[in-house]
Amino acid sequence: MERRAFSPAAAAALLFIAAVLASPSAPAAEGAVAKGAFEDNFNIMFSEEHFKTSEDGQIWYLSLDKQTGCGFQTKQSYRFGWFSMKLKLVGGDSAGVVTAYYMCTETAAGPTRDEVDIEFLGNRTGEPYLIQTNVYKNGTGNREMRHALWFDPTEDFHTYSILWNDHQLVFFVDRVPVRVMKNNGKPNNYFPNEKPMYLFSSIWNADDWATRGGLEKTDWKKAPFVSAYKDFSVDGCQWVDPYPDCVSTTTKNWWDQYDAWHLSDAQKMDFAWVERNLVVYDYCKDTERFPTLPEECSMSPWE
Ligand SMILES: *[C@@H]1O[C@H](CO)[C@@H](O)[C@H](O)[C@H]1NC(C)=O
Ligand SMILES: *[C@@H]1O[C@H](CO)[C@@H](O)[C@H](O)[C@H]1NC(C)=O
Repeated sequence: MERRAFSPAAAAALLFIAAVLASPSAPAAEGAVAKGAFEDNFNIMFSEEHFKTSEDGQIWYLSLDKQTGCGFQTKQSYRFGWFSMKLKLVGGDSAGVVTAYYMCTETAAGPTRDEVDIEFLGNRTGEPYLIQTNVYKNGTGNREMRHALWFDPTEDFHTYSILWNDHQLVFFVDRVPVRVMKNNGKPNNYFPNEKPMYLFSSIWNADDWATRGGLEKTDWKKAPFVSAYKDFSVDGCQWVDPYPDCVSTTTKNWWDQYDAWHLSDAQKMDFAWVERNLVVYDYCKDTERFPTLPEECSMSPWE
């Protein structure tokens, strides 16, 4: 579970090459493409007064203080697509603070929800953030992975994206795939594919577990803690009852087509680099916790 050493310079070079070679082409699609103003796409879930925008409305700020955090969610729900946002995380001493960016079938944490999570775990000044991902199906998660990042996510905006179709679920950081979960094409208890999800983001206090397993507490003297968002984009199948056309896997949309069912060769190179250098925790390797590893752990991300 140690962070392995790697050379940031080599990483940067590799990423540059990868970006040039691999820039995943995201052709204009026929599904719903959402962009634009906050009110067009989102509702505030709680504590309106902890939400602010820049003067031009393009950057959104969520803040956490001792009283409360803040969160927002999309007005629409989606089943499959490409979901992307730029985030700049709480700088300085952010130990105990978690910024979450996730998709979920429900607004509350219901017992049969599906959920796809990215959580940014804050840290003491100068110590690295980790990103934790998790996948829930029908109320059950326990599929955590943790990754170190190759940059300081508090210094600049970086892009965090999710590709979701019936074949795979891929988490991207700046277009680099960091985690892949494959579907086996059969009814199973791990791959969420049956219910539309909303996209959420929130900031909250999690100093009972987030930083060094809960040892590092939130320093409220440093409050408010603020994370910033911009450039939300969805290219996906917007849900309408009872069943939108775009879900029928007629593969009209790039995110649903054959090329999006597995990583491209260039993405595989990036993913291999991530696997070698940035994985801090992988539940699929945790045989102490899971003497019998979960079924999905035998699915190869390389196929
Ligand atoms: C989902 O979970 C609920 C309760 O937690 C259970 O009753 C139900 O059978 C589960 N559904 C499936 C399809 O596994
Ligand atoms: C915080 O920094 C410490 C020390 O570098 C590190 O062990 C830990 O993994 C970091 N992240 C979290 C979320 O605890």
